[in-house]
Amino acid sequence: MAYNIPQLSMGSNGKSIPLLGFGTAEYPLGNTKNLKEIVLRAIELGYRHFDTAAVYQSEKPLGEAIAEALKLGLVKSRDNLFITSKLWCNDAHRERVIPALRNSLRNLQLEYLDLYLLHWPMTLRPEAEILPKEEDLLPFEMESVWEGMEECVKLGLAKCIGVCNFSCKKLDKLLATAKIPPAVDQVEMNPVWQQKKLREFCMEKGVHVSAYSPLGGRGTAWGSNRVMDCEVLHQIATARGKTIAQVCLRWAYEQGVSVIMKSFNHERMEQNLRIFDWSLSPEELQKISQIPQVRGCTLLGFISDKGPYKSIEEFWDCEI
Ligand SMILES: NC(=O)c1ccc[n+]([C@@H]2O[C@H](COP(=O)([O-])OP(=O)(O)OC[C@H]3O[C@@H](n4cnc5c(N)ncnc54)[C@H](OP(=O)(O)O)[C@@H]3O)[C@@H](O)[C@H]2O)c1
Repeated sequence: MAYNIPQLSMGSNGKSIPLLGFGTAEYPLGNTKNLKEIVLRAIELGYRHFDTAAVYQSEKPLGEAIAEALKLGLVKSRDNLFITSKLWCNDAHRERVIPALRNSLRNLQLEYLDLYLLHWPMTLRPEAEILPKEEDLLPFEMESVWEGMEECVKLGLAKCIGVCNFSCKKLDKLLATAKIPPAVDQVEMNPVWQQKKLREFCMEKGVHVSAYSPLGGRGTAWGSNRVMDCEVLHQIATARGKTIAQVCLRWAYEQGVSVIMKSFNHERMEQNLRIFDWSLSPEELQKISQIPQVRGCTLLGFISDKGPYKSIEEFWDCEI
């Protein structure tokens, strides 16, 4: 059975984004064995939005799966899919943006992306490894990097552009100078890190929020067990005959954001789609709103006395 995932129009060109997307970051990064078959199964189930990034090393198998899905007729045309990829920090230099996107497109065997995101408000030396050394951390030149992102749209290589992991303060700064405003801010968001302030800000400014780690990213370096072990969520799930994952995904969906979840397990890929034919009650939403808030992603590699961000608070502009 194929599920029908609702879509929402976003960005200055009104492009539609499927509200439940499929993440492809498996920890440790690069662990993409079987990803082609997993994506084919996901397409059969009804997933249409796939989230990748240069740094995940999942672009190639995702591209192979898309090509195969088109060949098999699982989707009518490329336009029926929504593909997001991201610029890694060592390419966050004005002159490296277009070559980086062209490389992602080559990996994906695509002519264009639906959404190209700046992965972090961070610039690394081009030679930096995934886990940067102190000397790799460079000042982030937001304006010039964004000009490169805008060029991606002008060249027709990306339908929409956006950012990830931007605070309200950084978004505000970007919105003040951008000729093409960011369509999306993709950020960590789940019942344990609800991003209320950022969501209100984005709503006011017309920036669509996409939620990553909606289940808390258990088992990754950037996530924790806090969401899946949360007692309030456990009680709601038990009372409703749902799983904690379904409660989390439904909660995020009800907040009006798009959600990027990751599961490479067939049963859970299907389970996570069963969130559109029921809703959380006002009492349940109220209980979730009172869960103590803890940020999952700690970013240790980007914080240094010698880099542009000396502390986590400085990175997030002291926003909770
Ligand atoms: N922009 C950014 O900086 C950024 C950062 C992080 C992530 N992302 C994107 O967001 C995607 C999702 O985030 P995420 O991978 O951190 O975490 P997530 O979706 O919150 O959680 C993934 C974990 O939950 C498990 N899981 C999935 N469905 C489940 C269910 N129904 N019951 C129990 N466990 C379940 C998965 O295991 P199984 O696979 O075994 O099911 C996996 O271990 C990533 O893949 C990536 O595309 C973006």
